[in-house]
This record gives sequence, C-alpha cells and structure tokens, in this order.
Amino acid sequence: MGSDHQPRLAVYPGSFDPLTNGHVDIIRRGARLFDRIVVAVLVNPDKSPLFSVDERMEIAREVFADQPSVEVDQFDGLLVEYAGRREADVIVRGLRAISDFEYEFQMALMNRRLSSAIETVFMMPAEPYTYVSSRLVKEISALGGSVSGLVPDVVETRLADKHGAATARA
Ligand code: PNS
Repeated sequence: MGSDHQPRLAVYPGSFDPLTNGHVDIIRRGARLFDRIVVAVLVNPDKSPLFSVDERMEIAREVFADQPSVEVDQFDGLLVEYAGRREADVIVRGLRAISDFEYEFQMALMNRRLSSAIETVFMMPAEPYTYVSSRLVKEISALGGSVSGLVPDVVETRLADKHGAATARA
C-alpha cells in the first residue's frame, strides 16, 4: 500500500467471561489484518458475570502483553457509538458454526442500520476452537472438568482459584 494508507482500526467486542483460546485465535487473526485491534469488554449490568470487567481486562492485557497492536478497553452503551468514538472502521466478530449465524447476522444488520459508517467483518477461528464457548468453559470448570487447551493458562489458573474458593466455602 502507498503513503495514502489510512491506519485501520478494528473493534472486537464481547463479554469475554472468560477469554477463551477461540477469542485469542480471532484476535491474532485480526491483528494480522488490521493495524490495530481493540478488545472491547462489554460492561453489562444486567448479567452476573463470573469475572469482573477489571479481571477480564487484566486477563486480556496479560495474554497480549507482547502485542502492541492489541489494545484492551471496556465499553457500555451502544457498540456503534463506542466504535464511532474510537473512530474504528470495522467491528470484528467470530463465527464458529451455523448456529452463531442468525444472531450475528441480526446484530450486524442492526448495527449497520444504526451506523452505516462501520462494517462488520466475520472471522472463523481455527477448527479446534469451533466448539469452544465461555459458557461451556465455565460450566466444565465449575464441575471440576479440565479446560486445559481451551483457554489461556492465566484463565485456567483464575478459574481454578474461583472454583477452588467456592468449593472451600461450600
Ligand atoms: O460475547 P458476546 O456476549 O456475544 O458479545 C455481545 C456484544 C457485546 C457484541 C453485544 O451484546 C453488544 O454489542 N452489546 C452492546 C449494546 C448494543 O450495541 N446493542 C445493540 C446490538 S445490535
């Protein structure tokens, strides 16, 4: 590309409760495609997350500490408004299976209606992560199963701390 190349900023929004290796795979792919990618953690007061927003941000920052093109931030309110404030060009979302499609399609078109300036780009994770979800990771870990290989090491440790502490209290 020539000197007229505008830096491309992508926002990768989500709950990330917790970050999985599927998310990490998408972020790495996004970092290769865009000049900068912002992992934007949703502050959602309606949900009762396992990890606080601060914990989720700490985890992502630790995992991507060696990648200066990956930034970690939080947002609340409308995603398109946040993306507009950040002057992002693209919203990145991961698509694992057909089952993700309907919700993602609806969200992408609604976001386009709310702001035609931002484009949603879907990326597929590596095959071993197509069945990994934060929800299943939390369930398996809470029931004492192994999530090794499905989440970054730091998440595995923190899950063990949370569930170990819960078991100790019970
Ligand atoms: O990881 P998730 O929970 O699937 O992420 C969903 C997320 C954060 C992308 C979505 O809930 C969102 O964008 N929330 C912000 C509020 C908003 O903009 N809602 C309108 C979407 S069309």
